[in-house]
Amino acid sequence: MSHSPLTARVVLDNERTIGTISPLLFGGFAEHMGRCVYGGIYDPASPHADERGFRRDVQEVLRQQRLSILRYPGGNMLSGYDWRDGVGPRQLRPRRRELAWQSIETNQFGTNEFIDYCRATNIQPMLGVNLGTGTIADAAALVEYCNAPAGTRYADLRAAHGYAEPHGVQYWCVGNEMDGPWQIGHLDMDEYAGKAREAAKMMRWNDPNLNLILCGSSNTDMPTYPEWDRVVLETCWEHVDYLSLHYYATNYDDDTASYLAMAAQFESHLDTLAGLLRYVKAKQRSSHNVFLSWDEWNVWYKDRSGHGGWQEAPHLSEEIYNLEDALVVAQWMNVFLRRCDVLKIACIAQIVNTISPLLTTSEQILRQATYYPFALFSNHAAGQALEPLTIAPQYDTELFGAMPLLDVSASYDEAQDSGAVFLVNRSQHESVATDIIWQGAAPGRAAGRAHRPAPTATVVHGGDD
Ligand code: AHR
Repeated sequence: MSHSPLTARVVLDNERTIGTISPLLFGGFAEHMGRCVYGGIYDPASPHADERGFRRDVQEVLRQQRLSILRYPGGNMLSGYDWRDGVGPRQLRPRRRELAWQSIETNQFGTNEFIDYCRATNIQPMLGVNLGTGTIADAAALVEYCNAPAGTRYADLRAAHGYAEPHGVQYWCVGNEMDGPWQIGHLDMDEYAGKAREAAKMMRWNDPNLNLILCGSSNTDMPTYPEWDRVVLETCWEHVDYLSLHYYATNYDDDTASYLAMAAQFESHLDTLAGLLRYVKAKQRSSHNVFLSWDEWNVWYKDRSGHGGWQEAPHLSEEIYNLEDALVVAQWMNVFLRRCDVLKIACIAQIVNTISPLLTTSEQILRQATYYPFALFSNHAAGQALEPLTIAPQYDTELFGAMPLLDVSASYDEAQDSGAVFLVNRSQHESVATDIIWQGAAPGRAAGRAHRPAPTATVVHGGDD
């Protein structure tokens, strides 16, 4: 039993703000991979299925998680996907060999089911277009299918499939991880930049209101990072609204001290890309802004299985999470708040079964450890993110050098006069008694609580106390 004298202070001020917290920071990603769609979202054989085959228990947890936006249908699968396979009468949809995950794709769930699912769960849909095997014409045709009023070929096809009104999908990814040699139809940076620009033009001509997300680097270890990002931005700047980034955290070396300091990696990733956005905007003499979309993020290293053995809905990458993973997820979300001036969308990959906080059997659903920090942030972070001044003891890490023991973010919602402070204690052994000092007027209440917050909080996890 340790009785540590460790102490820290966090100083906050409602007027020292970073930016408005976009609700789209609390999004998710659903790919036709493993049991995410089949067995997670859609499972007609489950006792929890509604009349459309949607898992009601999963929907209910996503509502509790306040998932705001959902990216679909991939992922690596997107780059070999023909959206036409997944629409129209179910009995006519083809069974396909899905090459990215070497699984059988039945196409019983497709674009219209996805939109229905989002509407029923109060989630904003985000669709991807295939820039691997797909053409720019295929991309434009999908926009017409989804968003154009009836009266032309693809919009009429949608109407014939039972959807007279346009779906009005606002968020669109222009391909997926096209920098990766593993990607179906991988392109080099100049090829992708040109194809993405032309796809974006055609997509926008079909619907000028689209928010378009350009593929940035797949991760910071790519040999082409961050040159890829510079080149694609310079070619596409005026045609897109977001640059994507992806990253999966790992602890292969069982180096918990470094792992618990991963916020340093996440923050430097965002800093690099934020600098690049400023550089390209200045170089182009542009008044247009491009923001960041972290549309795949999570912990993923214990189960990297990706070969489906040509099965339908195989068990792939069903990562099991522990406390240290939950603390990394919490730091990721701290970083989202601290960089919400430039980061506007984030999607945890994925939402159920595959690399996910949620696991299902046909009868049951399990919330893993990583569910809880996500739900804390999505339910309580609102309004303006505050710039915290954190005065905390430091500790040594192999990967990031000396790091503070506390990782902190905070928000203040003026409309509700409520505040929230999110603290991660990185110590594996000690508690850190922390004074939270609100300069000026303190919020009337803590987010989610009825009463004025106590001025002093004790941050406890993982210590012996
Ligand atoms: O989420 C799993 C995979 O990770 C996605 O298909 C791909 O985009 C990324 O590499």
